Amino acid sequence: MVETPRGVVAIELPEGRGTLRVVEDGEELARAATEAFVAATTAAVAARGRAIVALSGGTTPKRMGELLTTEPFVSQVPWTQTHLFWGDERWVPISHDDSNAGTARRGFLDRLPVPPANVHPVPTVMRTPAEAANAYEAEIRRLTGVSTGVPVFDLILLGMGDDGHTASLFPRTDALAEHDRLVVANYVPKLAADRITFTYPLLNAARQVVVLIGGAGKADMLDAVLTGSDDAETLPIQGVRPTTGDLVWLVDRAAARRLRRIAA
Ligand code: 6PG
Repeated sequence: MVETPRGVVAIELPEGRGTLRVVEDGEELARAATEAFVAATTAAVAARGRAIVALSGGTTPKRMGELLTTEPFVSQVPWTQTHLFWGDERWVPISHDDSNAGTARRGFLDRLPVPPANVHPVPTVMRTPAEAANAYEAEIRRLTGVSTGVPVFDLILLGMGDDGHTASLFPRTDALAEHDRLVVANYVPKLAADRITFTYPLLNAARQVVVLIGGAGKADMLDAVLTGSDDAETLPIQGVRPTTGDLVWLVDRAAARRLRRIAA
């Protein structure tokens, strides 16, 4: 267990499950995520002239987005060389309240100096979810110049649902079995809804995956995911195991409160 500045606890998890960083509360979670975003984009641009990032959906990243619009962060990010994608999207127009890209745009993106051409929402205007997934995969391949094999994102931000899903990889859904495509349409019976999602091959090729988890409501699931047996079919986020990249679980104390066996 490592104490870091501001009392943050950092723990190497057993069995290659990544690094657990516990911060005090939701605001510290957002700040730590913002710092990770700045660090990843500046390092990527310094090394390769470009940063390719995937944002998560859900509510957790909202405060991070707001912090990104404030100093010192907004001036630290190389926005003109940074490209933004989404790790998943709901099958709704971007104008819809449920749209991850629409929520990000309305919440913070429109207040950031990122060129519009660098923002890559899932094209949910297409005829079918499968067509949108194919087009998104083609866009990722076009931008990265990786026509075969798996493109490498510099940073993929993820959340975790209280059922152990991440992106739109939900328990016992077809997308969990996809090991060739980068992006697929995924029908989610429990939601009776179509989703578009990154697949494990794309997630696990990333240089860094940061999972943001906050609040007591996630505590039981986080304990099951980090200390229980591996079963990605029922706990899909357990299938996120970057091949060579870093996996960081960035959680607040409320979400970590069940982790007695780790974060004692
Ligand atoms: C989505 C997200 C999803 C989300 C988790 C956590 O489209 O809903 O991508 O995977 O990250 O459900 O959501 P919260 O951050 O709202 O708890």
